[in-house]
Amino acid sequence: MFTILVTGATGNVGRPLVTQLATAGVDVRAVTRNPDSANLPPGVDVYRTALDGLPGSDAVFLNSRALGDRLRATVEAARAAGVQRLVALSAINADDDFARQPSRVRGDRNKEVDELAAGSGLEWVSLRPSVFASNFAGMWASQIRGGDIVSGPYATASVAPIADADISAVAAHALLTDDLVGQRIPLTGPQALTNAELVETIGAALGRPLEYHELPPDLVRQRFVDIGFPEAFADAYMGLLAETVQRPAQVTADVEKILERPATSFASWASDHRHLFN
Ligand SMILES: NC(=O)c1ccc[n+]([C@@H]2O[C@H](COP(=O)([O-])OP(=O)(O)OC[C@H]3O[C@@H](n4cnc5c(N)ncnc54)[C@H](OP(=O)(O)O)[C@@H]3O)[C@@H](O)[C@H]2O)c1
Repeated sequence: MFTILVTGATGNVGRPLVTQLATAGVDVRAVTRNPDSANLPPGVDVYRTALDGLPGSDAVFLNSRALGDRLRATVEAARAAGVQRLVALSAINADDDFARQPSRVRGDRNKEVDELAAGSGLEWVSLRPSVFASNFAGMWASQIRGGDIVSGPYATASVAPIADADISAVAAHALLTDDLVGQRIPLTGPQALTNAELVETIGAALGRPLEYHELPPDLVRQRFVDIGFPEAFADAYMGLLAETVQRPAQVTADVEKILERPATSFASWASDHRHLFN
């Protein structure tokens, strides 16, 4: 029997991944800091740390946010424990200037997780997704609950959001088959959309006339700082967005190729996740 250890198991990618792997009939070990409230599917074994769950695992899904400063030690311990395969959750922009990677400021290590997996001597796959669709619920749901206007910077900034469950479906494929071994795979949604188009799309799913109102970048940057974000985060986030204005985001066909079905559109994701905005 194949045993897979999933770090970040209660998160955006980890939770659907755990379900997909359990449904596929493999032994799943889920890592969470809060086993009692994790609410994972029956039959899934729960561990408080990745190190606890490594002995006897055949493959490991690495989430650098969840592993934090234990990332390198976990990769080394995986090798020592006889793990055969590492699947890293990286990011499409992992090789870009760090000053344009806002999530590094909160500790994500998408370049390092990719390099550690690829340099581990084990079988490896590095998944490099674009922005997750769920980000837009986090960013905009409270404004949408309060009215039909979403305010933010750069109405024409472009992204190709990927449904979180498409990432986990590709991760399951990377863990369960040999098809993707040794590859760095850029994963995106099927379409580049501007901020204004994303808001309209959510509005269509909700049956409401939502509109995006562009705010001056300096004002948005200052608001981030005022509510407690580090200046480095505000600068990286604003810089990243500014670079995508008037330049359609990269769209790749890898999700469709790997899953042998179209990647989930943002419209379909929004329709399936209306509850997040109500
Ligand atoms: N969001 C995006 O648009 C995007 C795009 C590309 C790449 N990525 C990358 O994807 C990774 C994040 O994946 P995700 O969204 O699935 O993760 P997530 O949902 O934010 O977190 C996964 C789990 O890790 C634990 N966790 C979260 N923050 C933690 C912290 N500070 N310290 C220790 N444990 C923590 C939590 O589990 P417990 O509370 O159960 O322990 C959480 O459920 C990051 O490396 C990010 O840069 C994100």
